[in-house]
Parts: sequence; structure tokens; C-alpha cells
Amino acid sequence: MTEGSLDQETLLQHLGEEEKPHGAVVPPIYQNSLFTFKDFERFQSGFNWGASEEFVYSRLSNPTLRVVEEKLAMLEKTESALLFSSGMAAVSSAILSQVSAGDHVVAVDVLYGPTFGFLKNYLPRLGVETTFADGRDPEKVREATQDNTKLVVLESPGSYTMRLQDLQAISAIAKERSITTMIDNSYASPIFQTPVDFGIDLVVHSATKYIGGHSDVVAGAICASKKQISRLRAEELQYLGGSISPHAAWLLMRGLRTLPMRMKRHEATANHVAEYLLTREDLNGVFHVSLPNNPQAELYKKQMKGAGGLLSFLPPTQNREWVKAFCEALELFAMGVSWGGFESLCVPVKAKPLDWDRPQWVVRLYCGLEDPEDLVADLKQAFAKASGSG
Ligand SMILES: Cc1ncc(COP(=O)(O)O)c(C=O)c1O
Repeated sequence: MTEGSLDQETLLQHLGEEEKPHGAVVPPIYQNSLFTFKDFERFQSGFNWGASEEFVYSRLSNPTLRVVEEKLAMLEKTESALLFSSGMAAVSSAILSQVSAGDHVVAVDVLYGPTFGFLKNYLPRLGVETTFADGRDPEKVREATQDNTKLVVLESPGSYTMRLQDLQAISAIAKERSITTMIDNSYASPIFQTPVDFGIDLVVHSATKYIGGHSDVVAGAICASKKQISRLRAEELQYLGGSISPHAAWLLMRGLRTLPMRMKRHEATANHVAEYLLTREDLNGVFHVSLPNNPQAELYKKQMKGAGGLLSFLPPTQNREWVKAFCEALELFAMGVSWGGFESLCVPVKAKPLDWDRPQWVVRLYCGLEDPEDLVADLKQAFAKASGSG
């Protein structure tokens, strides 16, 4: 059997695991900081940090990490991948790898908060400015570019209002101007969206989410060309040192084995919950990428293969007390950040995309692996309590 003939789900179980020390069915955790050599020349070649295949020091590479990196690159259809200690280490390293003092970045308005903060508040200290644009309109992204723009930062879908960006249109605009594109693909996971199919250069993940999948590991990854990954390894990983531990990488390997099936289940449950929310006339909006009435439904069909477990709604009132009562009444949806694990979650947040004239309360739900009917029943009783009828 050749790798090319095998399905993604088969490769996820076996790729990178051809060597089986002692026949161990699960690759061991190489819990070591350094590797020793008998051969002088091999040791010397190992110092070529970016390009070397040798394992020298676990800040830069390690056999347990490599298994996961091979699987991630396969899933994202990139030549290479690099793990980091967190999603934010991956995000900030990806951005820093593309900019120098005097450069400019264009970013969409629906970014994860710390990514937004890094661009808006931190990068100006290094002489890099960012313009934020409404990512739903590629022309707005084009208008925001300048002669010194080096990078376009995307996050599609955005994880509160679930807005998409047209990856193909934006990457074409960027390519005309030799601008690199990067996307945070944590929402969709590589199972439901492979951005390089649409010309995106750097694909970043908070692997803490679906890839880890069990709410027990914080991790990040960048998937890109061999050239980009060698440079990231030799510079951002080497200098900033946001390296993942072998144990955390091993947890990602375990999570990856069930990623496709988990994604399908999260999606089915979120669709079920969305259908229920749509029956509630008191809500001021339901945001779920795969709904037929989503104004971006065509784009969703073009660039995503599924929706995943996230959705959100605008509550019946912007009264803080209602939001508090609803969230505190939930029993299965726990109030907590992040997503991708087994447990359903709820995040009340004040969102303000560029086109809203004021921040509004949005309640984000993440549908875990519980029974879908139990989750709907939990929502029903929380709505009843918050509205004073329960
Ligand atoms: C969309 C998105 N990107 C990146 C991150 C950062 O990832 P991490 O928490 O693994 O650093 C998060 C975390 O919640 C996120 O929601």
C-alpha cells in the first residue's frame, strides 16, 4: 500500500508510526531533552537547526513531535508542520515570521481576542502597524492593504459571530501584491476546512481545541511549506522557544486518532441545537455557519466540509441580568472558555464586529459529545429560568 492510495482516516492511524520500537503499538513518549551522537559529522550537521533531519535538542525537534507534525501536515495538505506550546505561541510566531519594523499587516475584525491584542497593542512596539477590515468583503481587505503590507491575518469562521472570509478571493488579492496570508483554522479543524486548497500560505491551529480533543492539553501548530517551516524552526521556535513538551505532543497524537469521528458528532449535535434555537422566536439572531439562512451559506458550502460544534445567539434582551441568569441556569453547558473537548460549554461575551454600532451580548455554545436531546433539554430549562417562567 502506498501513502497516496490511503484515506485520511487510515493515514491518521498509521502515518509517521512505521518504526515500532519493541513492536509497541503506540509510539513512546520520547521524554528526553537532548540526543547523543557517536558520529562527529552527523552531530555537526544537526546544528543546521532549520533544515536538519537529526534530532539534537527537544526544544526544536523530537520523535514524538514528529509523528504529530507528519499527521497534521497530511491533514492540512501542506509539506510540513511545526508544533508549539500553545495556540498563541503558534499565532505570534507565525505573525513575527513575516514582519519587520516598518511593515504593515491587514487583519480581519473577528479575531480571537489575544490575536487582536497582539496585533493592535504589542506589534506597534516593534514598529509594525495593523489595519483591521470587515473580512466578509474581500474588497475591504484589498482597500486596507498598503505598499508596505506583508501579511494578511484571517480567522474563518470567527468564533463568536461565526462570520466567514472568502479565502480564495482574499488569497488572490494578496498574491497579486506578494503578501503572505495566514489563517487561524482552529474553528473548522483540518477535517472541515483545508485553507491551502484556496491559496492560503500559513495555517495555524490552537491544537488545544479539536486536535487535542479532550480538554487536557494546551498546544499549537503551524502548517505550511517546507521553506516556511524550516525558517520558523530556525528562528521563532529557536529564539522565542515556544516549544511543546513530548508528553503534550503525545496527547495530541491520541486526540488526532478520533478527530474525524468527533468532528462529525460535534457537527450533528450543533445542527440539532441550532434547529431548536431557530424555533425560538424570542432570540434576536442565531449564528451557525451551516444554516440555510446564513447570508454566507454559499461561501460555507464552497470552502467548508462541515460546521463543527460551535454556534451562538443574540439573546432576547441585552440586559446583563438575563444573560447572567441564563448562563448560571445551564447545567450541562458549563461556563468556560475554549472548545474542542468532550464537554459542552457556554461563553457569554460582548462582541463588536466593525459593522455593529455598539458591543452586544452574544452567547456562544459549544456542543460536546453528550446526547443532543439532553443538551436541548438543558437549554430549554435555562431559557425558562432566565425568562422568569422556570
Ligand atoms: C480562535 C483561537 N485561536 C487561538 C487561540 C489560542 O490558543 P491557545 O489557548 O492554545 O493558546 C484560541 C484560544 O481560545 C482561539 O479560540
